[in-house]
Amino acid sequence: MQLNLDFKGRHVFIFGGTTGINFGIAQAFARQGASVTVASRKKENVELACKQLAELGGQVHGVCADVRDFEAVGRAFEEAVHNFGAIDVLVSGAAGNFLCEAKDMSSNGFRVVVDIDLVGSFHVLRQAYPHLKKPGASVINVTAPQSFVPMRYQVHACAAKAGVDQLTRVLALEWGGEGIRINSISPGPIEGTEGFRKLMAPTEKERAAAAAHVPLRCFGTLDDIANLALFLSSPYAGYISGALIPCDGGGAIESVKPALEGAGHASLLATR
Ligand code: COA
Ligand code: NAP
Repeated sequence: MQLNLDFKGRHVFIFGGTTGINFGIAQAFARQGASVTVASRKKENVELACKQLAELGGQVHGVCADVRDFEAVGRAFEEAVHNFGAIDVLVSGAAGNFLCEAKDMSSNGFRVVVDIDLVGSFHVLRQAYPHLKKPGASVINVTAPQSFVPMRYQVHACAAKAGVDQLTRVLALEWGGEGIRINSISPGPIEGTEGFRKLMAPTEKERAAAAAHVPLRCFGTLDDIANLALFLSSPYAGYISGALIPCDGGGAIESVKPALEGAGHASLLATR
């Protein structure tokens, strides 16, 4: 079930918008009549996303760019604005992750996730800034519970996503005077996504245990996150800025035990 809000003629740019949660957000805006630009690294992802978004009826444009490349990110925005005009809604959600104990993680392994999630988010926000509609733009950073819940095997992602939430808060201070609102969405475990596949319970038994651990006793859906993005970008959220909003069934206020089990490290639970 999706919110029904009118985004006709609005330009929505979604970095990392070609798969998973961010693609779900792109689909939701396309259904509401927005002109949607999606960007990510892989040509095949960009092409498939554009094809599927076009089937929803709106105007669509795709760009290949790596968030780690500051100049390429800048060119992506110039191309998009040339097509659809100033940006009404920016979603920054490109991310990478893998499970690895800190003692085994290489310098490059740590750096790659910080470069994509944190430095990449800065590149996106910094290069988008001249092209954001002022006043009126809504900016959304897609973060994760890792930004405030410490999780084993994710020292890189925890550090990076905590930084992304600080980008949200600092830029809400700096850009608020120009009428730009910026918020973080923190999804819980969203079924059917790459993040869920990589980080969550691999077996049915572990999935059931993980779901039981969420206060609402279930995993989230793409629509749960897309609805929050639609709402945050609508006039109904006109006084919300600098907020870090979990959409996680209450999961972030629980402990991190399922992450251990889900990662196949249940044996560690009995080490003392
Ligand atoms: N365990 C330990 N180290 C790992 C690893 C793993 N599972 N996967 C990658 N690394 C290390 C590599 O060994 C390398 O370090 P090294 O040079 O010291 O050997 C470093 O990370 C970079 O890996 P590389 O594969 O070159 O990076 P990439 O830029 O091609 O890919 C990733 C980036 C690793 C984050 C990749 O998983 C990715 O592209 N992810 C996007 C999708 C995703 O993760 N979605 C979920 C979002 S929550
Ligand atoms: P996903 O499908 O892998 O989405 C990541 C997107 O980012 C893809 O479109 C990917 O496309 C793009 N991307 C990755 N590296 C990039 C780079 N260097 N430059 C440009 N684009 C890049 O994963 P997801 O699980 O849906 O996650 C989406 C967001 O939600 C992430 O920010 C993640 O941290 C957050 N999140 C997810 C969950 C979950 O349960 N899934 C929970 C909490 C938070 P290309 O490969 O084509 O580049």
